[in-house]
Parts: sequence; structure tokens; C-alpha cells
Amino acid sequence: MTLILGLESSCDETAAALVTADRAIRAHQLAGQEADHRPFGGVVPEIAARAHVEALTPLVAAALAEAGVSLADVDAIAATAGPGLIGGVMVGLVTGKALALAAGKPLIAVNHLEGHALSPRLADPDLEFPYLLLLVSGGHCQLLLVEGVGAYRRLATTIDDAAGEAFDKTAKLLGLGFPGGPAVEKAALAGDPKAVPLPRPLVGSGEPHFSFAGLKSAVLRARDSGQYAAEDIAASFQQAVVDCLIDRTRRQLGAVEATALVVAGGVAANKAVRAALEGLAAEHGLRFVAPPQWLCTDNAAMIAWAGAERFRAGLVDGLDAPARARWPLDPHAEKARGAGVKA
Ligand code: KG4
Ligand code: ZN
Repeated sequence: MTLILGLESSCDETAAALVTADRAIRAHQLAGQEADHRPFGGVVPEIAARAHVEALTPLVAAALAEAGVSLADVDAIAATAGPGLIGGVMVGLVTGKALALAAGKPLIAVNHLEGHALSPRLADPDLEFPYLLLLVSGGHCQLLLVEGVGAYRRLATTIDDAAGEAFDKTAKLLGLGFPGGPAVEKAALAGDPKAVPLPRPLVGSGEPHFSFAGLKSAVLRARDSGQYAAEDIAASFQQAVVDCLIDRTRRQLGAVEATALVVAGGVAANKAVRAALEGLAAEHGLRFVAPPQWLCTDNAAMIAWAGAERFRAGLVDGLDAPARARWPLDPHAEKARGAGVKA
């Protein structure tokens, strides 16, 4: 059975995994860097890149040991080649190239977003193309029609912040700690989602996109008013994000043919987000697919799996494959109005 080694190092998780074409996760190794970045309240690119240098090669050795295989048993090596923090991307991609060269194996340069986009198919063998994907992470907030391997139609994106970024900034504003998403989710459990009136940017808008910058400013004003408990702000913020995600996703469900509604990316680990999307899918008589939480946040199993899907399709890369800080999944997507670098 085809066996793919996957490497991930595009943000603040270093990871190596071995996955087969029939969905067996033979090894899954991951080292977080939270402690390195916590004093700064966010990911510091230079610190991240250095931490990847230290962690990645030992994780590859650990993954091979976990699966009880050697590099010779691997059919191809898949490494994240972007988008992401370029120092980290370069560490992972060059490591992948060196292993591919040394072992005489093909290299697959994987788009990190494609890893997230195809991860639901690793979790669910019955998920067929095309599906409507809400990709919500620290760097992206997009609705994509996933039509096949390498065939992604971007229907909507954020015109300012990504959803995960809004969670991270809210956590910082409320002093809830780092990483922000899980901290806000935890605080929200003890709060009232109706306590603080917050805006729902672009909800009901005729254009398809997302916006979260205004929400973040409203959180700042609510905090500075001194009127509200941090838990109530967290719960109200989370509800506002959920309402935005649902409204924008509902708009697309009426417009596309899809076999399922799928969510992926770090924010898909959020239980309120998952529950609301599940309800929306049920409303439309559609299947709802969400990978398990560990597969939603960054990991190398999703990169190995995207590698397996590309390998099966005959899509391999040369040893000169570039590292890219920016790499849109849909090269034909138009720039969204007002969209900044993250679109
Ligand atoms: O996909 P990911 O691990 O990295 C990127 O590719 O960006 O996503 C990380 C993002 C962070 O912004 C983090 O705060 C958010 O996902 N996140 C969450 C939760 N867990 C992670 N957001 C809300 N609720 C969570 N439980
Ligand atoms: Zn990611």
C-alpha cells in the first residue's frame, strides 16, 4: 500500500506523519511551540523558524520508528511548500527535498490549504467531490467548492482578518492567554452570548465575503467600557463569529451543488462553530463532515494525505519546487473588495 511521509512547518507546529493511500495513519508526531511564543502573545516568525530547525528531523525519525518503517519503505515525501511564515516553510520544504534526494523518492510540494481542504476525506472515506468547504484558520477564512484534487473554486474570502486571527486578538484583548482560540472557547462556556451587543459585519450583504475587523474593534470598546465580564465578552464574541460564518455559508448553500457541507482549519476545532454548521447542514438536508479536532489544527497527517491524493493523481514536483509565503488555492479567484494580504 502506498505510504507517504508528510512534513508540516508553516506556522507554529512542527509535525511529521506517515499515512497510507487507504487512510491508515501509521504515525503522527507533532511538537507545538506555544511556550516559545507565549511571552510575546503571538507567533514570532524568527523564533518559529529556529524551533522548526531543532524539532523537525527528530520528529521524522520518531515517525519512522512509530510506524516501524525506514525511508526506503516510503513511496513519496510530501512537504508543505506554503503559504505560511516563509522561514518555517523553507525548513520543511528543504528537509523534504533532502530526504527525497537521499532516498531517491519523489517530492510532493503541498499547499498547506490543500492539506486542510482534503483532510475531511482522510477522516471520512465516503466524502465525495464536490463539497462546500468552510476553511477557517488563523490565516484564512474562505468558502471553497472542492471539485477534485487540485480543483478548488474560491467563492468567498475575508476582506480583513481571518476568523482564527479574530479569536487570537480577542483573547489578547481580554487577557485570556495564548493560543487564543481555545482560551476564548473556554471562557465563553462561563459567559452569556447575549450579554454584549456586538456587530455581525457583512451579515445579509449582497457580496459573499467575510469581515471580522469591526468585531475586534467592538470587543475592544466593550472591554474598555468596564461594563462587562471577560466571560460575557468572550461568549458574545464567539456567538457573533458563529452568526457571521453561518450567514455567509447559508448564502452559498443556496447557490452551489454539493454532496456535503464540510469544515476544516483550526477554528473548526471550536464546538460552537461545529454545532452551528451541523444545524445548517441539517436545514439543507446535507451531510455534515468535520475532521476530528486534532486533524483540524495544523498537523502533518493532513499534508501526507494531500500528498497521497496528489500522488494517486500523478502530481509530483521537481526538487526545484519553490517555497511560497503566499499561494492561493484558486489561482483564478478575483481579489475581494478591500481585501488585504490574507485574501
Ligand atoms: O489551522 P491552524 O492550526 O493554523 C493555521 O493554518 O492558521 O489554525 C490556528 C487557528 C488559530 O487562530 C487558533 O486560535 C484557532 O485556529 N483555533 C480556534 C480553536 N482552536 C484553534 N479557534 C476557536 N476555537 C478553538 N477551539
Ligand atoms: Zn493551518
